[in-house]
Amino acid sequence: MKTMEDVRRNTYFMTSIDYETIDLSGLPPETEPARQQYFIARCRQWVTEKSEELGRPMTCFISTFGCQMNAHDSEKLMGILLEAGFTEGQSEESDFVLYNTCTVRENANQRVYGRLGYLNSLKKKNPHMIISLCGCMMQEPEVVEKLKKSYRFVDIIFGTHNIYKLAELLSERIDGRKMVIDIWKDTAKIVEDLPSERKYPFKSGVNIMFGCNNFCSYCIVPYVRGRERSRNPEDIIREIEALVASGVVEIMLLGQNVNSYGKNLEKPITFAELLQQIEQIEGLERIRFMTSHPKDLSDELIEVMKHSRKICRHLHLPLQSGSSRILNLMNRKYTKEQYLTLAAKIKEAIPDISLTTDIIVGFPGETEEDFEETMDVVQRVRYDSAFTFIYSKRTGTPAASMEDQVPEDVVKERFDRLLKEVQAISAQVCGREVHTVQEVLVEEPDDHEEGFLTGRLSNNTIVHFPGSRELIGKIVKVYLEQSKGFYYMGRQLDAARDSLKDK
Ligand code: 5AD
Ligand code: SF4
Repeated sequence: MKTMEDVRRNTYFMTSIDYETIDLSGLPPETEPARQQYFIARCRQWVTEKSEELGRPMTCFISTFGCQMNAHDSEKLMGILLEAGFTEGQSEESDFVLYNTCTVRENANQRVYGRLGYLNSLKKKNPHMIISLCGCMMQEPEVVEKLKKSYRFVDIIFGTHNIYKLAELLSERIDGRKMVIDIWKDTAKIVEDLPSERKYPFKSGVNIMFGCNNFCSYCIVPYVRGRERSRNPEDIIREIEALVASGVVEIMLLGQNVNSYGKNLEKPITFAELLQQIEQIEGLERIRFMTSHPKDLSDELIEVMKHSRKICRHLHLPLQSGSSRILNLMNRKYTKEQYLTLAAKIKEAIPDISLTTDIIVGFPGETEEDFEETMDVVQRVRYDSAFTFIYSKRTGTPAASMEDQVPEDVVKERFDRLLKEVQAISAQVCGREVHTVQEVLVEEPDDHEEGFLTGRLSNNTIVHFPGSRELIGKIVKVYLEQSKGFYYMGRQLDAARDSLKDK
């Protein structure tokens, strides 16, 4: 019988797996996922033996840096570790510690090196400790060279293309290999049907594609995540149906550029068509997706969003720069005017949409005039929120060798100006639903106020309101009493009605 634990761990893909019955005396199977199930069974045996020896459970801990894609990968990695018999630990003082790294900006790399020193000190105290690194930063050859030279205490290193192999790599480490390193440059392979440990029982990320083909000139992602590969729609639908059967009501479709989904499949299909198929899944309430590249956002998608009951009223549409000259240098393949036209078209079709964005300040050669073009777009589009980044030079990208890197003090000054503007606008925009009733997916207890809950509107804005924990994971109607700029304070509909009557 499936336990609640199994349901959360998505083991419905693997309900028939009884690890005790897997024959470990023979060679591992060649095909996936059977091969990884064999290695999970092997690790399980080792973890059981070690736990008995230590008289306590073996614990594991994953620290995730970077984007939603990494967060979702970490759920899969945690799924494998729990299947392998580990118990989830609360801190780096665990027996198996994994850092899932990001390398999109240089400071992310520095943070990892900084924390590795701390891990080394923990390992000196706990000789059973296994330290493992994976993710985008590991796809950079210089990083692995540095680790091999100066961080010999790291046990396992792997990249972005082979996370499904964690149990196999751990198995090699158990066999006594010292620093197990397995980095693939690229892959066409997509392994389905592995376990995953979801952070929330009621919402989940779902990969629809991997990699990126855009080569924006500042960005390292295409080099570390490889070429674009779309999953088959049937596999995606099957996964979502299984998630819904286990209690999921909201999904986030994940890809670096979801708008080009399906182009390279044997039977091509558009992202809008995929969304329409997903919309049919009974029991699924909300569909989110990220990220959209403006150059590929089709009229078909706008139409589908407009008529959908389930697609959330939120679109993350990275601008990067408002200057057509800089956009050209960035290889973004749209101009300021095209972006503004697109944003206006979306707002006209879906007036209650919330638009958010990413902006880079200080790209090589950015002049004051270029920067003012960015400010102009921000003022015209009026984003609900914007992630603002200082340009970070990534070795190997075309922008890294461009002349005219902007001086640090100029970048900082522009960044501060932009941030102020973005915040002022979002404080005005975010409160537009005040005094209306909205559907809210209740996510967790409010960590500031006892007896309160925290949930999200379809457009992703946060709402706090009084209520009991049983509502977590449910969609309820909430009257938005007060706008606090970036969030609302509300009352659940019935309670709100009462309070209105009282007035
Ligand atoms: N420097 C600064 N920001 C970057 N991003 C990507 N590469 C860089 C870089 N080299 C930002 C982009 C992207 C977001 C995920 O990270 O704005 O949309
Ligand atoms: Fe990087 Fe551009 Fe691909 Fe986004 S679309 S991951 S910014 S290369």
